[in-house]
Amino acid sequence: MLKSILITGGAGFIGSHVVRRFVKNHPDYLIVNADKLTYAGNLENLADIENYNNYRFEKIDIVDKKSVLSLFEKYRFEGVIHLAAESHVDRSIESPDDFVMTNVVGTVNLLNATLASWNSDMNNKLFYHVSTDEVYGTLGKEGYFTEKTPYDPKSPYSASKASSDHFVRAYFNTYKLPVIISNCSNNYGPNQFPEKLIPLMINNIRNNKPLPVYGKGENVRDWLYVEDHAAAIDLIFHKGKPGETYNIGGDNEWKNIDLVKFLCKIMDKKLGRSEGTSEKLITFVTDRPGHDFRYSINSSKLKKELGWKPSVTFSEGLEKTVDWYLENSRWLENVVSGEYEKYYEKMYLNRNRIG
Ligand code: NAD
Ligand code: TYD
Repeated sequence: MLKSILITGGAGFIGSHVVRRFVKNHPDYLIVNADKLTYAGNLENLADIENYNNYRFEKIDIVDKKSVLSLFEKYRFEGVIHLAAESHVDRSIESPDDFVMTNVVGTVNLLNATLASWNSDMNNKLFYHVSTDEVYGTLGKEGYFTEKTPYDPKSPYSASKASSDHFVRAYFNTYKLPVIISNCSNNYGPNQFPEKLIPLMINNIRNNKPLPVYGKGENVRDWLYVEDHAAAIDLIFHKGKPGETYNIGGDNEWKNIDLVKFLCKIMDKKLGRSEGTSEKLITFVTDRPGHDFRYSINSSKLKKELGWKPSVTFSEGLEKTVDWYLENSRWLENVVSGEYEKYYEKMYLNRNRIG
């Protein structure tokens, strides 16, 4: 009998890398990918493994309590890895309600269904909640986030993720549900929806469109290659201690403007353009309201206790990412069409050029 493991949000960016890794590396698990397929969910991301015997897809909205309960009845899961979420800060500023529903209510629905299913026997079971470093708020020029940094979320997105983290911890404390949380820095890599910084810039450079840098481009993010995040999740799921939190980061801080210039340089080479051509597309636009200045993650606990380390350098990871987007232009065109195109126009028509 295969052990059933539920992965939520498996059709999204990080989820699809986690699903692929688990399906391929753990043939003793039946991996059930439950996803609502919002604008960010795309089953094409998993086309290469969809026919594996140990993989199933279930189209489920985690906000719908009844479908979540029936899913648990159908599969009797022994582990849950929860990634389904609304994940984009700019969208959370436009419409926070969806973030409350999916990220908070959806997480509580999953916790309740898990608890009901495992109540009589919690041995060797685990509810793993995938979260973000954004729950810690924002840093100045110095310092970093550790697992002990107090929560201080600043955007509707990070507030909804912080709230879901608190519920997960409350279920550990109150009901002894075995849980683990990890808080990761910004991810990049193949299959990321082109509303996030790196794929948006790759797509615009490719199409000779303006590169909208918010404010002065001074904000700093710590970037991690998505497969290194998936490897950390695999390690923590199998070796982490219930009740604990693990920070995951790339030790790889970049000012947005420097990162965009670096991408322009890589792409000029790949596209056979003379150096400096794509940089001319950089356009400074109105800043994001309440824009967190800097994130920096200290992941020494994960490194020391579980022996994790990133496997690719930033240059290698970015190069792989750019190659993937250039080789998969059909994927890009498919996701950019339709709803996203309307959203993009709305977001960027509202932003004024400031430089
Ligand atoms: P994503 O937006 O690419 O994918 C989210 C997935 O969740 C999509 O497939 C979507 O269809 C699904 N989903 C959304 N609402 C749902 C609902 N109500 N029911 C079922 N499925 C639903 O997100 P991502 O970037 O892959 O992030 C995955 C997780 O990792 C999120 O929890 C996010 O907070 C966290 N995280 C992301 C990053 C990052 O840099 N992207 C960093 C740290 C943590
Ligand atoms: P994003 O990829 O949205 O991730 P997050 O806000 O969760 O960190 O943005 C990364 C950084 O890039 C953030 O400081 C905002 C900035 N940014 C731009 O300057 N222009 C853009 O078009 C986007 C999408 C983001």
